[in-house]
Amino acid sequence: MTSPNPPKVGSPFKRDHSPPAAKGNEGVGRPSQLKQSVALRTRRESIWELANPQLRELTVYEPGKPIEETARELGVEPGAIVKLASNENPLGPSPKAIQAMHDALENAHLYPDGSGLYLRKAIATKLGVAPDNIILGNGSNEVIEFLGHAFLNPGDDVITSQHAFIVYKLLATSFGARAIEVPAPDFQQDLDRMLDAITPKTRLIFVPNPNNPTGTLISQRKIDSFMSRVPGNIIVVFDEAYFEFLNDPPDTLRYVRAGQNVAVLRTFSKIHGLAGLRIGYGVAPVDLIEVLHKTRQPFNVNSIAHAGALAALNDAAHQHETKRVVDEGRAYLQDKLTEMKIQFVPGVANFVMVNVGDGLAIFDQLLRRNIIVRPLKGYGLPEWVRISVGTIEENEKCVSALRDVIRTQ
Ligand SMILES: Cc1ncc(COP(=O)(O)O)c(C=O)c1O
Repeated sequence: MTSPNPPKVGSPFKRDHSPPAAKGNEGVGRPSQLKQSVALRTRRESIWELANPQLRELTVYEPGKPIEETARELGVEPGAIVKLASNENPLGPSPKAIQAMHDALENAHLYPDGSGLYLRKAIATKLGVAPDNIILGNGSNEVIEFLGHAFLNPGDDVITSQHAFIVYKLLATSFGARAIEVPAPDFQQDLDRMLDAITPKTRLIFVPNPNNPTGTLISQRKIDSFMSRVPGNIIVVFDEAYFEFLNDPPDTLRYVRAGQNVAVLRTFSKIHGLAGLRIGYGVAPVDLIEVLHKTRQPFNVNSIAHAGALAALNDAAHQHETKRVVDEGRAYLQDKLTEMKIQFVPGVANFVMVNVGDGLAIFDQLLRRNIIVRPLKGYGLPEWVRISVGTIEENEKCVSALRDVIRTQ
């Protein structure tokens, strides 16, 4: 889903399907023919004429700015940088997960269990489904990609919300499908508008809940009403990367248990603090999971990730402590923003979306004060940044830098 700087949208490239004139017998024939064929071989066509056309329009996913790179640019130690840009766990991984990963290194010469049976069993027990209802991914992003491989063809439609997690749009584009983004008044995803947007070509509807970057949540009542009306031939994907941060989370697994065309995505990148390992999962009816397995590489999740995730899943104390720190930190950030009269969207996950007037400018100025946040221009929100909740000290540093930046505006 990434590509090196493609030409701008609408560039007049056309793929020429006519056979190249001298192909097949280069090196034979008269000197003039030889010269011509050498010229043909050395003439470098733009690679974009050869690549799948939809890739020209695909923008590269921009991750949060890395700590090391920022420290190098600013000439400071990495420890001086506060990264609040990627909704990671401020406490780090569970100590039990770290121990399990150390232990697993001893067997790093062996291929991982391709089926991930132990981890799927443990997740299944926790969720009250069967192991066959679960597929593991190299991050839940990979499960999103499985869905594209399994269900999308050029010309198909994918429905999602304005300002929704951007990967759905990238996925649609990379498969030559159209992403229909329905308006989200007041940053609330509107499931009725999603239903209205359905076309005969609609294959997938993505509902991130809570959404990233807005941090807003759709209620159980709205989900149930939507599910009672959505046609059965469309796969509905509830992306629940931040599920474990919710106090009273909506239940979407009921639709999986009922055998509906629903996939629920979860991840070990957030509350479990294992973003660097790349491990997430999808939960869906068995036949849907079987389809997704066809699109999966045999060893898509590494053995260290299996071990870390299994231990993290069983470390309830670390999950509780993370939620406590995040709840406290989010309340602190929102209180301070209110005090500073800065507009924000009240969030329910481990980040807050904040209107700073000029997102890129404030991102830059905070960066110069060693704080990395996420500007949201790519989400069509140029005035906003997203601030992940950190430790108390990190949150305090961020607020003090923000105060400083706003004062000098
Ligand atoms: C809504 C949402 N879905 C999925 C992901 C991807 O998570 P993973 O690290 O499991 O690929 C993220 C990560 O930020 C997210 O915000």
